[in-house]
Amino acid sequence: MYLRKAESRRTVEAPAKLNLILEVLSRRDDGYHELETLMVPVRLYDSLSLEPVPPRKDGRPGPILVHVRGAYPPALNRDGEELPPSGEDNLVVRALELLRRQSGCQHGARVDLVKRIPLAAGLGGGSSDAAAALRLANRAWGLGYDGARLAALGAEIGSDVPFFLSRCAAICRGRGERVESLPGLRPLHIVILRPRCALSTRDVYRAHDDLPSVTAGHGADRLGALLRTWRHGNVAEMGQWMSNRLQAAATTLSPWIEQVRAAFARLDFVGHQLAGSGSAYFGVCRHAQHAQRLATILRTRQLGLVYLTRSCR
Ligand code: C5P
Repeated sequence: MYLRKAESRRTVEAPAKLNLILEVLSRRDDGYHELETLMVPVRLYDSLSLEPVPPRKDGRPGPILVHVRGAYPPALNRDGEELPPSGEDNLVVRALELLRRQSGCQHGARVDLVKRIPLAAGLGGGSSDAAAALRLANRAWGLGYDGARLAALGAEIGSDVPFFLSRCAAICRGRGERVESLPGLRPLHIVILRPRCALSTRDVYRAHDDLPSVTAGHGADRLGALLRTWRHGNVAEMGQWMSNRLQAAATTLSPWIEQVRAAFARLDFVGHQLAGSGSAYFGVCRHAQHAQRLATILRTRQLGLVYLTRSCR
């Protein structure tokens, strides 16, 4: 998330994320799942700008107004219906209302959100927008919350919001909200493909619960090995340690996932897998030209939108 200008209206770029490792350890009593995951922010951004609105003259708090534009072709849900660019339960509105309730602030906000991160694709766009809104409002409303306080509040909005507040690669545990930051890792060159069919995170976790249980194994080994190869610059060896426990479940929900996997498998990616709970799919490449070449080939397959990107430091 990068601040662009120092005026009353501020703009930040809210990145997408990818899980290089996603292990589901157990189902919890609250319906969530205990995770261990290695996440990286990537240079595919929504833009969010926020301007504070003073309290109304009659003493009521200022309004919270969010204007959303979708800057990509719409996705379809599993029933073939088009997804709107934002729902009524927009996470940005929920985040700002929560921050205002907790702080007692009377200001409102006028927010402009340009969506480039595909919806319902496992790329964390909604959570990233919520994190960006919290950071902007914290500043615009003069609240002075520190990172830990903002993260605790963000966790009430979504499991990935604290990760996006931390703004670098991280190992995330619990339901995703316990963040161990890993700054300074070298950028990875990545190709993302979003098939036309979107998937709901909730549905994918449910489908995971319906699959015969497999022992979640060697998570710590995998994490350690992947981080070692990454830190040593052995990008070509990283693929053997990547994994996503939700991929099997997502594959039962949409035939697109297997088609896309097969297309990636025919190319010489370092490693490739489902992005989070899907439906997007990504591959890690050796360097920028390698990524460029594979993205060009994938575009000719017409399986969906192809993004050429890299991870943020
Ligand atoms: O936390 P968030 O609202 O992003 O989660 C969306 C949905 O994903 C949850 O309602 C839940 O069904 C599922 N989820 C889960 N375990 C997690 C994170 C998310 O089951 N650790």
